[in-house]
This record gives sequence, C-alpha cells and structure tokens, in this order.
Amino acid sequence: MNLFIYESNEQLNAAAANLMAAELQRNPKAVLGLATGSTPIGMYEKLVEMHRAGLVSFREATTYNLDEYVGLPRDHEESYYTFMNRHLFRHVDLPEGSTHLPLGNAENPADECLRYDASIEQANGIDLQILGIGHNGHVGFNEPGDELHSGTHIVQLAEETRKANARFFASLDEVPSEAITVGMGVILKARTILLLARGADKAEILKRALRGPITTQVPASLLQLHPNLIVMADSEAGRLLQA
Ligand code: PGA
Repeated sequence: MNLFIYESNEQLNAAAANLMAAELQRNPKAVLGLATGSTPIGMYEKLVEMHRAGLVSFREATTYNLDEYVGLPRDHEESYYTFMNRHLFRHVDLPEGSTHLPLGNAENPADECLRYDASIEQANGIDLQILGIGHNGHVGFNEPGDELHSGTHIVQLAEETRKANARFFASLDEVPSEAITVGMGVILKARTILLLARGADKAEILKRALRGPITTQVPASLLQLHPNLIVMADSEAGRLLQA
C-alpha cells in the first residue's frame, strides 16, 4: 500500500487529479471507476480545471460509477447520475455513451446488476478505481455485515448511511432505503485503487480499514488485500496513521 497524507485539501485534490490525469496520459482509453459523495468533489473540480487548461482529455476514456440509489429517476436532483453530470461529465469531453452508472429505477433490478457486471467485463475491467470510505467502513454501498457480495447487487442501506446522506435530501424519509452497488469483487479486480479520505470524522475508520483485521464488518479492510492500493488522506483523516 502507498499512503500519502497531505497538509491541505488543495494538495490532496491536486494529487488525486494528477494521478487520474497521468493514468489518462499513459492510457487514453483507460476505464475509470468513479465515486460520488463529498470526498471526490475537489478532485473532480481540479480535473475540470485541468481539462479547461488543455492538460487532460477524457475523449477516449470509459467510466463506471460504483453505485446508484434504487427508485430515483436519473434526473432526480440527488441521483448519482445527476451528481456526476454536475461535478464532472458535463464539464469535460467524455462522450455520452462512455459513462455508465447502474440504472436505479430499472424495471428488473436483478437483470440490471447482471448487465452492469457484463458491461464492466466487456470493457476489460477497471484500470483505476476511485473510492471514498463511509463512516462505517463501506466502500461503494457495500455495507458492513456477516457477508459481502462479489458482483453488482441490490443492497439495503444501513441506517447510518441514510442518516449521513440525509443532508442532501429534504428529510431522512426521502433518502432511498436501497441502492445498486458494484460488489467487492468488482472493486478488488480494478488494476489500481485510489482510496480518498478527508476530515477528522474519517480518522478512526481509516485506521481500522488499513491497519485493523480484514473483516466483512469493515468492507474497506478488504482493500488491504489489493496489490496496488494507493491511499490519499488529508492530515485529519490520516491522523491515526502517521506513526
Ligand atoms: P463522503 O461519503 O465522501 O460523502 O464522506 C463517502 C462514502 O460514503 O463512501
């Protein structure tokens, strides 16, 4: 594992964006695994800035997002489809057909999961997977539990996750209770994983994920098994890993 701890958010955003830009320079056809949540927003902002300056192009890239809420139409304000358009897709040169998110309101969710996995496989898997980490150790929406799934699946969101995400909705009641998420197998098959964490509230779980036992109760702990894991944290999230 390569761990980088940055003094400022600006440095973290620049380092993460530079890593993705370098991947795209090395391999313009890269398949990128993308994440939503507040953590990667600064990285996306930086990438948009770099794109506007002519420093990075997504023209030949393909993207797969980790997850989507079940039941929200794509054009809902808080769908992850809308999030990605707002923060990245509409500002860069990614062709429309090259971006993928699970369809949260698919008529047949089980088929949608199979379709998503098949599509990732057809693209020859993910080159660079961006991840945030939930306070409970989830990655994507793989919530802690007695078991984890390998492929894309429907998941009941943990109450803690719904509460954490309620800040984006008018009330807790409006936060969907289910999501479609890629499974741990899809994530672990990515050739490189970039885990991002920022803020003091992530320090404890980041330490458990990276230094604690590997357990389905902390899904991010499975990342310890990955041969090419890069972790970028700000000094607050990385506080307990400094020693
Ligand atoms: P956050 O969410 O980036 O909004 O903290 C991370 C996650 O839940 O995976």
